[in-house]
Amino acid sequence: MSVVTQSKPAFSANAVDRLIDATAADMAKVNALILARADSHVEMVPELARYLIESGGKRLRPMLTVAAASLFGKGTGSAINFAAAVEFMHNATLLHDDVVDESDMRRGKPAARMVWGNKASILVGDFLLGQAFMMMVETGDIAALGVLSAASAAMAEGEVFQLAKTGDLSTTPQDYAEVIRAKTAVLFQAACEVGAMSGGADAPGRKALARYGLELGTAFQLVDDVLDYRGETDTLGKNSGDDLREGKMTLPVILALADASEAERAVITGALGDAEASDDQVRSVVAIMERHDTLGRTIRQAHAHAGAARDALNAAPAGAMNALLADVVEFSVMRLF
Ligand code: IPE
Ligand code: IPE
Ligand code: MG
Ligand code: MG
Repeated sequence: MSVVTQSKPAFSANAVDRLIDATAADMAKVNALILARADSHVEMVPELARYLIESGGKRLRPMLTVAAASLFGKGTGSAINFAAAVEFMHNATLLHDDVVDESDMRRGKPAARMVWGNKASILVGDFLLGQAFMMMVETGDIAALGVLSAASAAMAEGEVFQLAKTGDLSTTPQDYAEVIRAKTAVLFQAACEVGAMSGGADAPGRKALARYGLELGTAFQLVDDVLDYRGETDTLGKNSGDDLREGKMTLPVILALADASEAERAVITGALGDAEASDDQVRSVVAIMERHDTLGRTIRQAHAHAGAARDALNAAPAGAMNALLADVVEFSVMRLF
């Protein structure tokens, strides 16, 4: 039987390691369910799905789901299904996202699309999405199904909005905030909210965890967008500099364009959206970002959202799990991968 691997973070490992330990029993069930539901009589489906799943990934979202459930304690058992569903939604989005972004690497390996092609990646992504909804339906929890369905629609909307803004120099920080809310933060929000719901949370508790997830997810994507300029490809497991070459209007580049001199603006627009832009060109753009502190300002925004995530936990039950979830926030802003 194959084993599902879960990547261990290289930095700020403490809180995430403790989260891994605290959720180990539940995650063993989640991982078994993930493998079982990636199966199909059509060989290419499990081959491609398991290639991605067994490449690891941090499993952050499903861990948050089962952790949120145990924070409230009156588990209905449906948290396992929701956690697996959330990870399937995430993996489906990654398969689709790498096609849209024309990314070559994912989780330290060639992206699935580089092995099986774009068409297969999209179709297996659709399969995973369908399986995710099957697992949700099995719980019979219509309210939670509503939360996750809304998240699924929002994520697609976020990716489309981002696509529409590609290379658009008039993109505002507000547009960017809407993109990352929809494409990333909403899934973190839903992961935490349905976890709380399946743990028997009351309305304020559910709201607190939803807020926690939303703020955590926002911080997480802000940092991801900084890492795309500052990170090392080896530790990231995906290529750095890709966002610039793709013309992705992330906050570091939006802020840089706003503050740039004419000459600096020409350097940025010369590389933005040019798939063939050289590493030197990317380095020149990063130098401009450093000059105007746009990576630092993006990180500071991430810290503000991280603080809001921690604050949200004040309205949730106190105790060891609450403290652990507060510590996990730190990881989202300190992570180096
Ligand atoms: C990648 O998410 C996509 C973003 C929202 C930035 P993760 O960094 O959680 O990916 P894995 O699952 O650990 O590979
Ligand atoms: C986040 O966007 C991915 C999804 C929400 C699908 P990115 O395009 O920035 O994610 P990476 O960098 O490819 O992981
Ligand atoms: Mg991408
Ligand atoms: Mg990215």
